Amino acid sequence: MTEKNKIILDIIKEAGAIMRSAKMDDGLIRSKAGTFNFVTEYDSKIQRFLEDELSALYPDAVFFAEEDGEDKSGLGDGYTFIIDPIDGTSNFIHGYSDRAVSVGLLYRKKPYFGAVYLPYTDELFYAEKDCGAYRNTERIRVSEKDLGSSLTAFGTCPYDRDKLGQKVMDLAYELFMHSTDLRRCGSAASDLCAVACGRLGCFCELVLSPWDYAAGSLIVKEAGGSVTRLDGSPISYSERCPILASNAVCKDEAISLLSKFV
Ligand code: IPD
Ligand code: CA
Ligand code: CA
Repeated sequence: MTEKNKIILDIIKEAGAIMRSAKMDDGLIRSKAGTFNFVTEYDSKIQRFLEDELSALYPDAVFFAEEDGEDKSGLGDGYTFIIDPIDGTSNFIHGYSDRAVSVGLLYRKKPYFGAVYLPYTDELFYAEKDCGAYRNTERIRVSEKDLGSSLTAFGTCPYDRDKLGQKVMDLAYELFMHSTDLRRCGSAASDLCAVACGRLGCFCELVLSPWDYAAGSLIVKEAGGSVTRLDGSPISYSERCPILASNAVCKDEAISLLSKFV
């Protein structure tokens, strides 16, 4: 791994330490567009910290980050950081389960480096293009289990529930009936890492934003898995899209079950 990318790992761990030290109170929460979509002072604070530190490291990089608003940024022709300062904001507010810092780095619009840090369990997942995927210092691989022998996970598209709620539940039923059991952790970045290290056979969500999966998708691919839309077509890094991450064995069965939900 390049020295610069090692420094990204230090920076993301510092960002996670800010999250871990947070003292949440309701006065720090604001609503955003969509249903039950909130942002806290800490989302903004961690994003500012990441942008300051990462722009010192890569001065020419463009930033595409959740709390800037979806329309503000786009992908640059050189380096682009795609950042979610807190993936799992509802979990963060309620003190429940997984919360992650997610930093993806594209070069010429293609994934080049990704890191996802879960500060409460101190798990740092990362991958550099063509160099494999890691959890802390350990190399990770997707599992070799088929769908019926795997735990799977889905996301609920919580902010789009008025439009997608029923479809999300139909998709969940399909996945539930064909796998060992179904999970919903509340952080897509964490779900992707769970596929990458073999805890889950697959994970899917009907709509996610690039900052939810820019880092995690490279980690899954470098761990030997695949990340596509639900019908197996390529994902976008510039706009929202459906996401299916799976190990190599589950992939075809998951696509044939889930492509009807596209
Ligand atoms: C959300 C989480 C959640 C997923 C949502 C995402 P946020 O990100 O990843 O698991 O279901 O679709 O928007 O808002 O907590 O950063
Ligand atoms: Ca997110
Ligand atoms: Ca977020």
